[in-house]
Parts: sequence; C-alpha cells; structure tokens
Amino acid sequence: MPGDSGLPLIGHSLEALRLGLDFGLKRYETYGPVSWMRAFGVNIVAAAGGDATQVVLTNKDKTFSQQGWTYFIGPFFRRGLMLLDFDEHMFHRRLMQQAFTRPRITGYLEHVASVAADGVSRWETGTFPVYPAMKQLTLDIAGRVFMASALGSEKDALNKAFVATVRAGTSMVRFSVPGGRWNAGLQGRKVLEDFFSRNVPAKRASDSNDLFSGLCHARDDNGEAFSDEDVVSHMIFLMMAAHDTSTITTTAAMYYLGKHPEWQDRVRAECFAAGSLDVEALEGLRELELVIKESLRLVAPVPSLARKTVRETEILGHYVPANTMIALGPWVNQMLPEYWSEPDRFDPERFGEDRREDKAHRYAWMPFGGGAHKCIGMHFGMLEVKTLLHQMLTRYRWSVPSDYRVRWDSTALPAPADGLPITLERL
Ligand code: HEM
Repeated sequence: MPGDSGLPLIGHSLEALRLGLDFGLKRYETYGPVSWMRAFGVNIVAAAGGDATQVVLTNKDKTFSQQGWTYFIGPFFRRGLMLLDFDEHMFHRRLMQQAFTRPRITGYLEHVASVAADGVSRWETGTFPVYPAMKQLTLDIAGRVFMASALGSEKDALNKAFVATVRAGTSMVRFSVPGGRWNAGLQGRKVLEDFFSRNVPAKRASDSNDLFSGLCHARDDNGEAFSDEDVVSHMIFLMMAAHDTSTITTTAAMYYLGKHPEWQDRVRAECFAAGSLDVEALEGLRELELVIKESLRLVAPVPSLARKTVRETEILGHYVPANTMIALGPWVNQMLPEYWSEPDRFDPERFGEDRREDKAHRYAWMPFGGGAHKCIGMHFGMLEVKTLLHQMLTRYRWSVPSDYRVRWDSTALPAPADGLPITLERL
C-alpha cells in the first residue's frame, strides 16, 4: 500500500490537524484512494473517494468496527450509539429509532422554534463573531429539546460539564494532564452521568415531549426497553452528536449567504412565503435546503469517520491487517473534481433536480455518513438548521466583506478560526 510515516514520533499528526481538508486532498492526489500514514500515535489507513468509502461503509463481512472512534472519544462517550457494534448496535439503534418518529420530531421542533425565536430576536445588530453566538443558541436549544424542564438550577453546571466532554472528545490531542482538557472531559462525564441517573426515575414515571423522555419510553416490538445505564450513555452521546454538528452547519450556511447576497434574498423570499413553521412548511423550504446541502458539502461537520478492522481484509486490492485504524474522508469526497464541477464554488443549484451532481457516486455527498451507522438525527438536524436560518432570515440581513475568506480550524470538528465576524442589520 502506498503511504509514508511522516516525521519521527509525531508522524503526520500536526499536518493533519493544521491543514485538515487540504491534507486529505493532497494525500488523495499523491497516493490515490487508499494509503497509510502514522498519526496520533497509531498507523492509519486513509480510504477516500467513493469506491473505497463504499467498501468500508457497506461492511459486507462485518470487518470494520466502530472501535476506531473508541480510541478517540471512548473515555467520554462510551456506550453511545456510534460506539456500539454489529448486533448490539442494531438492537440499540432500532430502539432509539422510537425517539425519532415523526410525532416525536414534531414535538422537539416546537422546543427548537421557541428557543430559536427567543434567542435570535435578542441578537444585537452590528459586527460580531457569529460562531460563538450560534453555539450558545444551539446549546440552549439542546438543553430544551433533550431535557425540557429537567435542567432546573443545575443548568450552568451541566452546560459546563457538557462543553468539557465535547471539547475533550473532539480534541485530537489525547493526554491527561492536571487541569487539562482530558481531565476536564472525564470530570464532565461524571457530572452528566450523575445528573441523568438521578433524573431517569422521574422521566420514566411521566412522559413529556423531550428526547430524554423519548429514550426512557422507547420499546421495540418485543417490549424491550433501554436500561437506566443505557439511557444515560445515549443521552450523553446524543448531546454531543447533535450540538456541534448543527452549529457548524448553520454557521457555514450563514457564511455563504453572507457572501452571496443574491442567494440570501432568494431564500429569504422563500421563508416569508412559507408563513408558519410547522414540519410540513419546513420540509417545503426547497431553496433553503439546496443552500444547506451545499454548505454541508463545502464544510463537512464530521470531516472524517473512524473505523478499526477486526480481521485482516483488503480495500480496493490493498491488504489491510487486523486491528488497523481506518479514516474515511467525507470532506475529501465532497471536494473531488471527478464528482463536482468547480468544487470550490458555492453553487447550491448543483443539487437541483436537473443537475443532481450528488448522484455522481453514492458516497460523493455524505455529510451524514452512510451504512449501518448513518446519522439517526439527520432529518431532525436538517429541520433544526432550517428553523434557525428561517428565524435569522425573517428578522435580519447580514454580510461579510467581499474579500473575506473564512479559515476553518481543524483541530477538532471544523470551526471558524476567527469566530466568523458578520455584520447584522434588522430588516
Ligand atoms: C447537521 C447535523 C448533523 C451532521 C452533519 C451529523 C453527522 C453524522 C455522521 C457523519 C454520523 C456517522 C458517524 C459514523 O459513521 O461513524 C452521525 C451519526 C450519528 N448522529 Fe449525527 N449529525 C448531525 C446531527 C445529528 C443530530 C441532530 C442528532 C441527534 C439528535 C444526531 C445523532 C447521531 C447519532 C446517534 C449517530 C450514531 C448513529 C449510529 O451509530 O447508528 N446527529 N452523524
């Protein structure tokens, strides 16, 4: 297999963190779809491009396990759905699906709409970094959608604990030093475990339209339910899975709409025409959907997916030993010129019915992953982002200077290095 180990000791870790997408694209150009490298203390096989991705995600012989993720985020998010494998994963996924039915999602969206309207209406006009503001807002939304009124006086302590686990879990720097990120993440996990465990009995005893309740009451066809420990682990993972991803997506869409005022006017007109904000109306916002899809293509909130082989195998004819870490590259796939015309250009119409560039390969566009672990919150996440953008578009106009180009920091999930300053004015 082509590839190289990089620098002594650190391998390619720093380059991968510093360059993010550009690092992945360069390796694809240099070595092709399957190559090896040393990074983050292990040998990693990078598999990018549609065909290599398909081999891994189709996972015909159950060769590729989620243990790749465990290496990075296991201490903070153990027993979360994404960290489970094969039959056990299927059992948990089927049960969790009960918390993502249409009536449940409709209930969650009522919380999203009220928190988003309240939060956005209080934003100040002028120039300010939009990413931290959006992160705070989506955290408030998560608090309400996930736990409704259960937070009470512990809200601040829980927010702190939650942010600590996310920061530790999405940081690629993995060591424990007193006062450091890793330890704060472990402490955070303890606080969250304690809170959810204490609240499970009350949630089991009543039913409200939040996700915590949804998990407590989920039953499969045989009447099986999650244990208390399962509910706790799933809640902790779900909060992280839902929060950063929707923040990044909304922020990226705001960036592109700020840079392309003609699109901003177009989707604003669509939002005003839609009127109310029920699920059907949100689903009907087609032009906004094109913008969100294109933003998800240009900035993949989960830029790479981790797997580990449980036995020796091959990918496109390249031998891969057992216990090898695999990194898939959704972001790389989404920028390959073999699938996308002028990949760097913001061009939402490439997803329009008459072009459908995303159909060039099943894994050309894959911000939500694919296969058995494809994002379970995909539909809800899209509707949450639409709600947030609808609130922004019907209240404000915003812009970024025409010569401004955001730089996405890739040390964890992509985040604008400067917070992404926008200039906001009321309509
Ligand atoms: C725009 C927003 C989102 C993006 C881009 C996104 C992306 C992803 C991706 C790429 C995966 C697959 C990981 C893998 O294969 O290893 C995934 C899995 C998952 N996501 Fe999302 N996600 C988003 C929103 C959400 C939301 C809102 C929720 C929950 C409320 C959620 C819950 C999950 C869960 C539970 C999994 C694990 C599924 C499994 O292993 O079966 N996500 N997400």
